[in-house]
Amino acid sequence: MARRPIIAGNWKMNNNKAAAKELMDGITRGIKELDASNMPEVVVAPAFTALWQVYDMIKNEPKIALAAQNVNPNPQGAYTGEVSLEMLADFNVKFVIIGHSERRQMFNETDEFINQKAIAILNAGLTPIICCGETLEQREQGITDKHLESQITKALKDISANDVEKSVIAYEPIWAIGTGKSCDAIEANRTIGEIRKVVARLYSQDVADKIRILYGGSVKPSTIIEQMAQPEIDGGLIGGASLKADSFIDLIKGAMPLSTVR
Ligand code: 13P
Repeated sequence: MARRPIIAGNWKMNNNKAAAKELMDGITRGIKELDASNMPEVVVAPAFTALWQVYDMIKNEPKIALAAQNVNPNPQGAYTGEVSLEMLADFNVKFVIIGHSERRQMFNETDEFINQKAIAILNAGLTPIICCGETLEQREQGITDKHLESQITKALKDISANDVEKSVIAYEPIWAIGTGKSCDAIEANRTIGEIRKVVARLYSQDVADKIRILYGGSVKPSTIIEQMAQPEIDGGLIGGASLKADSFIDLIKGAMPLSTVR
C-alpha cells in the first residue's frame, strides 16, 4: 500500500496566542477547499503556549492533526519546565517531534534521551517524528550516511517492528535548515533511500516500506512539487514556510495529485 504523505509545520518558537489564531484561521479556511480523499496528513506543531488555542480551533476539523515540538519521557514529577505525554494527550496531540538538530545542538539532547522519548511516545499511543541530519562538515567529509545510520539505530533501540512502522522519520540536513538552501531533491531522495535501507537491515523490508520518511530543510512551495515527485520522500517537515497560511496551503497542495488541485 502506498505511504500516505505528511505535510507537517514546525512553528518552532514563533506565534503567540493571537498569531497562532490568525495563522490557523487562514489554514482552516484554505483547507476547506481541498478534497479530503486526496490530501496528505496535515500536521501543525505550535509552541506549548499555543496548543490550547490550536486544539480548540481544530477539534472539529479532521483534516488537521496536532503535534508537539517536545516532550519529557517521564510520566510526571519534579521536572521543572517540562511537559508530559499525559498533558499532551489532553490536547489530542497525535505526533511529537524529537531529535531535532536544534534540540541536539542547543540543548545537548543525546541519542539515548531521544530513544527514551521515542519509547515513551509510542507507549502512550502517539507517533514520534524522529529527526536526523548531518552537519555541512560531515557531508563534506563523506560521512553523511554513516552518521544517519548511527542516529537512526540509536533512536530506534528496543523499539518493536510494529511500533517502528507506525513511526515517522524526518531527514533534515542541518546545513539546509533555515538557510533557504534546500538539499537537491535527487540527493535528498538518495539519502532517504539509505535511511530506509537502515530500517530494512534493523527490521525488515516490509517495515522499511511502511515507515514514512520526510524531508526537511528550506522546503518551500517552489520546491515541494519536485520533492514530492521523488519516490522515497513521503512529505515535508517545514519551518519558515509553515508560518504563513498561503504558503502552508500551497505546500499541502504540492503534496496532492496535481489533477485534484487544479
Ligand atoms: P526551515 O523549513 O525553516 O528550513 O526549517 C526546517 C525545520 O527545521 C523543520 O523542523
